[in-house]
This record gives sequence, C-alpha cells and structure tokens, in this order.
Amino acid sequence: MKHHIDFEPIGRRVDVDDDTTILDAARAGGVELMSVCGGVGTCYECKVRVAKGNVTPVTDIEQDALTADDLAQGFRLGCQCAPIGDVKIDIPAESLSTPQRLQVEGQGAEVELDPVAKIFDVEIPPPSLHDLRSDASRLIESIQCDHAAISLVLLSDLSSTLRRLNWRARVIARGDEVIAILPQDQSVLGLAVDIGTTKVAGYLVDLQTGETRAKAGVMNPQIGYGEDVISRIHYANTHKHGRETLQEKIVEGLNQLVDDLCSLANCSRDQIVESVIVGNTVIHHLFAGLPVEQLGEAPYVPAISEALEFRAKEIGLRLAPGAYVFLPPNIAGYVGADHVSMALASGIGETAQTVIGLDIGTNTEISLAHQGRVICCSCPSGPAFEGAHIQDGMRAAPGAIERVQIRGGVIQVHTIADQAAVGMCGSGILDAIAELINVGALDSRGGMKMDHPLTRQREKSKEVVLVDAQHSGHGRDVVITRKDINEIQLAKGAIRAGVEILLKVAGIGSGELDRFIVAGAFGTYLDLESAIRAGMFLDLPRDRFRQIGNAAGSGARRMLVSKNQRAAASDLARRMEYVELTVHPDFEKVFVKGMMF
Ligand code: FES
Repeated sequence: MKHHIDFEPIGRRVDVDDDTTILDAARAGGVELMSVCGGVGTCYECKVRVAKGNVTPVTDIEQDALTADDLAQGFRLGCQCAPIGDVKIDIPAESLSTPQRLQVEGQGAEVELDPVAKIFDVEIPPPSLHDLRSDASRLIESIQCDHAAISLVLLSDLSSTLRRLNWRARVIARGDEVIAILPQDQSVLGLAVDIGTTKVAGYLVDLQTGETRAKAGVMNPQIGYGEDVISRIHYANTHKHGRETLQEKIVEGLNQLVDDLCSLANCSRDQIVESVIVGNTVIHHLFAGLPVEQLGEAPYVPAISEALEFRAKEIGLRLAPGAYVFLPPNIAGYVGADHVSMALASGIGETAQTVIGLDIGTNTEISLAHQGRVICCSCPSGPAFEGAHIQDGMRAAPGAIERVQIRGGVIQVHTIADQAAVGMCGSGILDAIAELINVGALDSRGGMKMDHPLTRQREKSKEVVLVDAQHSGHGRDVVITRKDINEIQLAKGAIRAGVEILLKVAGIGSGELDRFIVAGAFGTYLDLESAIRAGMFLDLPRDRFRQIGNAAGSGARRMLVSKNQRAAASDLARRMEYVELTVHPDFEKVFVKGMMF
C-alpha cells in the first residue's frame, strides 16, 4: 500500500510502499537527510520529527538515541521508522545535509518596514492644450512633493515611460529624488548582499512587504586574484589597474548574482531600486573603488569608516537606472560592515546579557557584549575551513565529506548529496580531528600516534585514510594528513585566542558568558561537539550556543527595509571598541595554547 510522506520545511512529497523507512524515502525524494552510518542506527544523525500521522513503534536503538522528552515531542530516527499511513515529517536544520541548509540559512528581516525608498501609486493627468506643464512637473506634483527632483538617468526615458504606462505609474522616491518609475502591478525590490572573501550571498527583498523573494550565492570572482584579503591588497598594489580589476570582478559577480536572483523571483532588474552591501573592510574598499594600500600596513586604517552611499550605476552595478547602493559603516581595517551587520542581526548591541558573537570565515570577527560595552577583534583564521591548504580539502559541494564518526575503530563518513567521497569540507575536517582525538590517534599537540591502527606513514606524510580508493569517487584514497591538522590548529588557535583575549579585556571568565553565538555558513554547519572537542570553542553548557546562519546577510536585509536599522548600525559601529590582537601582550601565549588539543 502507498503512503504520502510530506517533508517539511522543504515542501517535498514522496510516495512510498509499506516498510520503506523515512531515511529511504528521503533518499528516493532527493531530500538530504543526514546518515553518517548509512542507516544502520549508530550515528543518530537522521533525527526527524513526526508532525502528523503515525509511524512504526519506537525501536531499541531509538530508546538509546533519544531522550524521553525527544520521544514525547515526536522525534524519531529516520532510519528506524516507517510510515503507517500518510505522514508529515519535519526535518530539523541540523539533520539536513549542506545544500538544503544553504537555501534556508539566515533569519529573515523581522523589523518594522520603513525603507529609504518611498512608493507612490499615482494617476497623472495627461497634458492637453489647456495644461502645458512638463511631464516632469506633472509627475512631481502627483506625488505631492514640491522639492522633488528627477534624476537625469530617468529624465531621458520619462516621457515615453509615462505614455507607455498610460499615465498610471508606481513612482519611487528617495528623499527628494525620484529614482524609479514602474508599472503599478510591479513590486518594488531591494537587494541585500553579503560579500565574503570566498562566497557571496544575495537576497532579493520586497520593500513593500519585507518578504525575501529569492536567495542565491555565487563564488567571489576575486578569488582568482588571491584567496585572502592580504593577497588581494597585494594584487591591487602591485599591478597596474589592480584595484580597478578587483572592483570590476566583484561588480561582475554581483551582476551575475542579480541575474540569478531575478530569474528565481521572476522579475526584472529595473524593479531593484535600493541595495545594501556588506563585506569586510578590504572587500568594502575594493567594491567601492577605494584605496587599500593603507589597509596592508600597520596601523591598518580604513579610507572611510562612516556609512557610504552612491548610485549603483556609478560602479557598473546593473539595477534600476536610478538605484542606490548603501554601504554600512566599518569599525577598523579588519572589522568591517559585515560584522556590524551580524552584530545588528544577532542583537549583540542591545543585549543586557554577556554574549560572544563570532562569524567564522577566512577572517573571523568576534564581538563580546558585556555590561553595555561591545568589544571586538579580528583573527586571521585562513581558508582551511573552506578546504584550502588541506590535501583533500574542498568546498561544501556534492561528494565532500561533511560528517565523520569513528565507531568500533571503523571510520564512517557522510558526504554531501550522498555521492562517493572526493574530498572533505570544513565541517568534515573538524569532525575527523575531533574523532581522531577521541579514539587516541592524535596527541595534544596534533601529532599522529603512529602505533594507532588508523594512522599510516606514506612516504613523508603521516596520515589517516577516511575513505579508501575503492570506495572514493575518484579512485584515490581520501586522507587527512598531519599537515592538514596543523592548518586547522592554526585556524582554531587564532579563533580561540580571539575569544580568550576579549574575555581578558572585559575582565571576565568564560563562565560568565550567557550566550555563544556562531554565525556564518561554516559556523552553522559545523558540529558543535567537534568544535568544542577540538578546542576551537569554549566548553560551555550546550544550551548557551546558538548557530544562527548568515547573520551578516540578515543584518543587510534589515537595513534594506528600515531606516531605523541603518541608524542603529551606525550607532553600534560607533560604540564598538576594537582590540588589535597582535599587540596584546598575552596574544602569543594564548594563541600557542589555543593550538593544542
Ligand atoms: S542512526 Fe539513522 S542514519 Fe545513522
């Protein structure tokens, strides 16, 4: 007999026969449910909630894996139960493999709508022999704003546009300037973008409803000119037109992103009248065409810290002809508007609690809120968590190992999209290290114990095979080497040192932290226990941690739909106290300690 299984929040329906487990149904329907153990019931990663309908009775494995509270709430292991009749299954974010989670990452903009762009639906009296006012005058009078001006870019098409629209138009004004004229049935959109050193996330938002109409990501095309901001500064400074090239590349990337977003939302770029772009200070400067030389040498001063706005057209960003770009304020050379945006979205600036908020990327920015102060720093965590500098490292793409468990001496892996392993992404590397520590294959300095059955010496390399050549997707072993572990030690040591120094500056101990907020794509997909086991995060009670997705993107969306949020971001940026880690007297000691396991 066939049953319907509705998977939420993905919204996919799969029809299955009796005895088909929820995990098998998910696989058949292309739903990326986690299953590190392959469905034998040892990893407990396939946790789902039965929201409606009935499934087969709880098994002994589920009795061990789930608490009484979990069971009372309807949680089950997907590999252990099958539907009895039609069911609705809720998949928690942590049980989804990476590609699905990418689509839902970050919270929406839950703020009162008060966009900079004001919208007027008007019916304009057409000219006649008795009414010879210009087209521009009659448009301005129709929105009852005597001081308004029409930007030159609109004037060239104004007369034909008004006649084509039969004198019924949706007029968009920004302050005293008319910036777009649309048909009345077209929605008015804004673009929010978080430009990361490696990845770019974009959101198309309806400025009248606040609804996010489309989300999409592209790689930052500047990556071909240097994988971190230091090498991009170097490129800009040492090549003729280097800075211009880097600006062109990122603008090209954003134009591509806008194309993708428009086709997802079935709209045109002429409907996008406003944009908010966040990024670290170097990315911000390169995007706006500002000099970056001074960011490459101490004391790393930005050309501008204040918020900045200009016409999108000025830099070649193709939106509505009169659209504007807003860049929120930076704090310092290595703490940029993206961190301000993250702090805004996560509420760090307003909380009365003691909170750490960190956004893990090629550069990791950290803020500590304590008794009204917000102290922040930046640590060069490098691209290792993006898979760079790791022998078999890769980005979070199909075939990347994203979860690793060692049970009974056997290594089990889960790959993105359940494809044969071809490498490992950041969360997989971190899991592998945590598990190798757990089984005693690594010492506290990250050295491999060569008498452990999982380690081997291959020419000069000490390594552990995660997936052998027979089972990998490219016919070679997928391994983690001693050198890979060292790369992760440098990255996690820098992050841990940043947290410890901020606590020292505030004069508090880790026990006083009420919350530990982890933002960013990698920060959201990493396994918390692995990050704690590897010593990257403090060993706090687990309910103090929050993994909140792309908070910089959420903050950008807030500023897109609310003038108040822009003002709040400027206020927050003024209040944030920057700490330069490298000059702190304890930094080196804390960093070296932070590299240990
Ligand atoms: S316990 Fe269900 S897939 Fe591992």
